[in-house]
Amino acid sequence: MCGIIGYVGQKNNTELGIKALKRLEYRGYDSAGMAIVENEKISSVKISGKVNQLKESLKKTDFSGTPCLFHSRWATHGKPTEENAHPQFDCSGRVAVVHNGIIENYRKLKEKLIDEGHEFTSETDTEVIAHLIEKFYEEDLTEAVRKTVSLLQGAYGLAVISVEAPEKIVAARMSSPVVISVNESGGFVASDPAAIVEHSQKMVFLEDGEIATVTEDGFEVTDMENISQSKKEVEIDWDLEEAQKSGHPHFMMKEMTEQPKSIKNSFRGRILMKEGDVKLGGLDEVVEKLKSIEKLTILACGTSSYAGLVGKYLIEEISEIPVEAGLASEFRYRKRPYGEKEAFLFVSQSGETADTLEALKKTKKKGALTLGIVNVVGSSIARETDAGIYNHAGPEIGVASSKAFASQLSVLTLLAVYLGRQRNLSVNEGREILKNLSGVPDSVEKILQKKEEIKKLAEKYKDFEHFLFMGRRYNYPTALEGALKLKEISYIHAEGYSAAEMKHGPIALIDENFPTFAICLKDSVYDKMISNVEEIKAREGPIIALKTEGDEEIEGVVDDTLSIPKIHESLSPILAVVPLQLFAYYVAVKKGHDPDKPEGLAKCVTVT
Ligand code: F6R
Repeated sequence: MCGIIGYVGQKNNTELGIKALKRLEYRGYDSAGMAIVENEKISSVKISGKVNQLKESLKKTDFSGTPCLFHSRWATHGKPTEENAHPQFDCSGRVAVVHNGIIENYRKLKEKLIDEGHEFTSETDTEVIAHLIEKFYEEDLTEAVRKTVSLLQGAYGLAVISVEAPEKIVAARMSSPVVISVNESGGFVASDPAAIVEHSQKMVFLEDGEIATVTEDGFEVTDMENISQSKKEVEIDWDLEEAQKSGHPHFMMKEMTEQPKSIKNSFRGRILMKEGDVKLGGLDEVVEKLKSIEKLTILACGTSSYAGLVGKYLIEEISEIPVEAGLASEFRYRKRPYGEKEAFLFVSQSGETADTLEALKKTKKKGALTLGIVNVVGSSIARETDAGIYNHAGPEIGVASSKAFASQLSVLTLLAVYLGRQRNLSVNEGREILKNLSGVPDSVEKILQKKEEIKKLAEKYKDFEHFLFMGRRYNYPTALEGALKLKEISYIHAEGYSAAEMKHGPIALIDENFPTFAICLKDSVYDKMISNVEEIKAREGPIIALKTEGDEEIEGVVDDTLSIPKIHESLSPILAVVPLQLFAYYVAVKKGHDPDKPEGLAKCVTVT
């Protein structure tokens, strides 16, 4: 969850490091620190708080050299104090380490190191890495790092500098992303391309078990046996401008507003309208295998898992393949039989979510066909799956996922048509769905124009302590997502429910203090939804209904309505989610919360 930057070169180190850290603040933000090799010693500043505080503290220094390391932390072991902030040091203060991930066997290693005389100053798991490097250091920092990481169990993306090797940064990776880049501006190490995209658009992604030695003039990547690895540079297809707020008050607003564009990008060049079919280049290599699959299991976490659930409805209905959709975090601990013709689909914005990655590794071990729907190019899930489809949604910085979800739904629709056309879906049926999908960006644009209306509703409902979101069929997952958005950024207790399930228990909670957001579109479950809404009304629960434009029938039944344009039922979640996102956003802002940085949450959950 933490942000890592390392730099060796001629640029102003503090300015470069702080700027890069600010781009990674979404990954972790409870403490921060930096270290630099200068005048044959390591100097360091660490703070408990946000990156701006580190910036202020650095104004009092005159650090100018490199190599240097910067880190923003999201605490896993030990409180977010100055001592626990990274970098962490060895006994002599001649080795500095920044780390993202969790060292699972750190206690054992620490006990042994203490017995050998090492003195620890923090509660972190990271500190053992610095002491191990100190222990193993003979003449070569890379070699000492190699020996160190061979003892570590767990996840790490790490970068190391040492007084003994003032010309280099050594980086290593296991289940936690590390990118490196060397060009005329110098050598860079980062936990995320966003940190250094300003300086380079060509990056090298380390694989698990690889160790990189980065200098101002070049790099070498070796494996655990010290065998040199040849690495390809990956071109990052978004620029700094895209990673900034572009005049919006928050990344979340920018990202919600970008949805028409990101949805368009997800299907651009992929729709074959005449054939009622879809071209997905990333699946070319497995096209024959896909023709014969008899079951698909979609796995993901959080918002992406709700997209997966919509995917289940879409793919079952459009392609007639039975689909299981679930949480990767549960699946990885499940014992279940594997079908010979079963494929697995992993949905992840970041491509780095640890539980999703572990579930993927588990299915790979079983020899299953694995597919990905991933936004971040070159990320672990994108690389580990046999084949996949990129979202092309551009960087998502706000912690609460918005444009990624809409884009995942769009890609899942494409996949459903693709699989359907391999089976019984006719040209006309395919064309009908794809026509509806092509119209989604304009409809989302129309919904975005209702911001003021949604803002007013947020003002009216912001002081309630509880909220229910309910929908059925395609919009049951939308209800789950609406509740997640509200709870994670506004801290209001919110539940997402299938409307049908209300009478099996939860309706007991409803009274005038427990409002409901009902997704009540003119579709196959409209009449059922109206009955469920009536049941809520009978208990005096206030109701906002999300309705289809032109539906007057519902007006008399509920307290407030918001409308979305008419659309094919299977695509309705892409539209229905937008007002729910905006509602959550405005409630959060009106309550004085920063929607981009919810307390205790990080953008990318690389711990399990
Ligand atoms: C909620 C949210 C999270 C993520 C989840 C999976 O707004 O963003 O629930 O959806 O952590 O992340 P990815 O998609 O990166 O695997």
